[in-house]
Amino acid sequence: MKILVTGAAGFIGSNFVYQQLEDHPSDQIIALDSLTYAGNLKNLDGCKNNPNYKFVKIDIRDRESIYRLFDEECFDIVVNFAAESHVDRSIENPQIFLETNILGVNVLMDASLKYGVKRYHQVSTDEVYGDLPLDRKDLFFTETTPLHASSPYSASKASADLLVQAYHRTFDLNCTISRCSNNYGPYQFPEKMIPLMIHNALNDIPLPVYGQGINVRDWLHVRDHCKAIDLIMRKGRNGEVYNVGGHNEKANIEVVRTILKALGKDESLITFVTDRKGHDLRYAIDPQKIHAELGWLPETRFEEGIQETIQWYLDHQEWVDEVTSGDYQKYYEEMYGNR
Ligand code: NAD
Ligand code: TYD
Repeated sequence: MKILVTGAAGFIGSNFVYQQLEDHPSDQIIALDSLTYAGNLKNLDGCKNNPNYKFVKIDIRDRESIYRLFDEECFDIVVNFAAESHVDRSIENPQIFLETNILGVNVLMDASLKYGVKRYHQVSTDEVYGDLPLDRKDLFFTETTPLHASSPYSASKASADLLVQAYHRTFDLNCTISRCSNNYGPYQFPEKMIPLMIHNALNDIPLPVYGQGINVRDWLHVRDHCKAIDLIMRKGRNGEVYNVGGHNEKANIEVVRTILKALGKDESLITFVTDRKGHDLRYAIDPQKIHAELGWLPETRFEEGIQETIQWYLDHQEWVDEVTSGDYQKYYEEMYGNR
């Protein structure tokens, strides 16, 4: 099989490429990315000599180049990770989120229809459901929970999901959608909470916790997310949505304390800063459907996964130094300078 992985130089995309090459050694992977600030070709260094792997630098909004690629390669499966993915950036500048996350998806689906792709998989997020109250631990997102996005990021992802479902109904696009909770693991850009806190703690920079640190996220190791997508895109039912999450809810402050403890740093580094606008309170996934239909269960316990992730960042200081040089300093100053 020939598989197009878009957004392949980002956090989850790069982990997914490694997982595909390892678990399906007879498949061919074409990794596509436009290499925005979040995309780093070094993330894919470990597979650059694999004969079943090829990288192409294309923007998913570039219809002409995408059509040419689809015409040349005849993909069996397209899996779309390419996106603007950071909520805080979407609050500062929503437009690029609409362009990539909605119009880019439109181009990929048109190409999939035109060139006879057998399965289009859209990587979505649990954030499309909005949030859950902190005091109702009995409530979880299911696949039938209404879409109720809070941020420009989640609204753009929800829009894409609606468009995928419309293409399924109107044009018979063979498709699946996965909606996963927060991921952590290697190669995550240090604008997201876990790698940002690790990076700051290592450098004795204050750890900026939004509001009171009581917001809850349902953390899943990126490896488990990749396994879920692998199952859904190959075996999931046409037109279906699958929620992916591991019943691993933690308040932000708890995660931050775990990181400080693991690194032997003092809690005095914690700094409570102005809350994020529209900050979602709690995400929590009910993963019953993917378990019942596809047999998926998470394999990495957070307690081990977080230690392993911290160790990865300790072992990859060069990678961290590279991605935090240049524009990152400017971003950090703008986002946190007056917070
Ligand atoms: P990321 O920001 O690390 O990676 C996104 C990648 O897409 C980058 O390599 C970037 O260069 C590329 N990209 C951006 N715009 C592009 C364009 N126009 N054309 C081609 N490539 C482009 O994000 P991530 O955390 O790896 O997320 C991947 C996907 O998974 C996203 O769709 C996101 O919404 C979804 N998701 C993420 C999480 C999470 O916790 N990180 C959870 C659930 C779902
Ligand atoms: P993030 O990693 O940006 O993921 P998302 O907003 O998509 O869930 O943030 C995770 C949680 O951590 C979220 O509740 C916001 C919070 N947070 C902080 O408290 N400080 C920070 O510097 C960042 C980036 C996030």
